[in-house]
Amino acid sequence: MKKKNSVFIATSLDGYIADKNGGIDWLHSTPNPNNDDMGYVEFTNDIDALVMGRTTFETVCGLDVDWPYDKPVFVLSNTLKDIPESHKEYAFLVKGSLTEILERIYEKGYHRLYIDGGTTIQSFLKADLIDDMIITTIPILLGSGSPLFSELPNELKFELINTKTFLNQITQNHYKRKK
Ligand SMILES: NC(=O)c1ccc[n+]([C@@H]2O[C@H](COP(=O)([O-])OP(=O)(O)OC[C@H]3O[C@@H](n4cnc5c(N)ncnc54)[C@H](OP(=O)(O)O)[C@@H]3O)[C@@H](O)[C@H]2O)c1
Repeated sequence: MKKKNSVFIATSLDGYIADKNGGIDWLHSTPNPNNDDMGYVEFTNDIDALVMGRTTFETVCGLDVDWPYDKPVFVLSNTLKDIPESHKEYAFLVKGSLTEILERIYEKGYHRLYIDGGTTIQSFLKADLIDDMIITTIPILLGSGSPLFSELPNELKFELINTKTFLNQITQNHYKRKK
């Protein structure tokens, strides 16, 4: 099966994925009376597993909801000693270079990966390992916080595949890496 690393993430107008306190409540700042999932389920139906940074993993663990993923979650961390007992059924700690980590995940049969977390996405982009990005822009300026993008050693060209608008307020652009 073709390997693919995809990003599906929401940012503020000024490019942040979390506010300066790590908060993500602003993701819900646009009224969404019918709970439009903005393509999330369709996207996740098409992935085999997630690769997630430790900060995002801890944020999700701290949410007052049931575990939201039905696919294995591989957590990147050099500081976590172990996945908490409560989450060992769903999440697996991975360490090493991105190439080594990806090889180990592919060996388990997971080829279409959802890459999540700011620093994690940035490290994948630095290694030119992102194939697709679906970026949903929420019309709010946060002013500071955790940025989606950071410096890259080289420019990376992407092609716009499509644009959607949700709730007359939120735009979603699907970009594919152009090589
Ligand atoms: N807006 C959205 O849609 C959205 C989506 C996801 C997350 N978020 C939020 O955005 C924030 C993301 O935080 P973040 O930027 O700190 O990113 P992150 O990628 O979630 O976590 C960063 C941590 O992941 C580990 N890590 C990342 N790359 C690694 C690598 N190559 N090798 C080993 N470990 C690696 C490191 O953990 P150690 O320090 O343990 O080594 C690093 O400190 C969170 O507040 C989260 O809730 C928002």
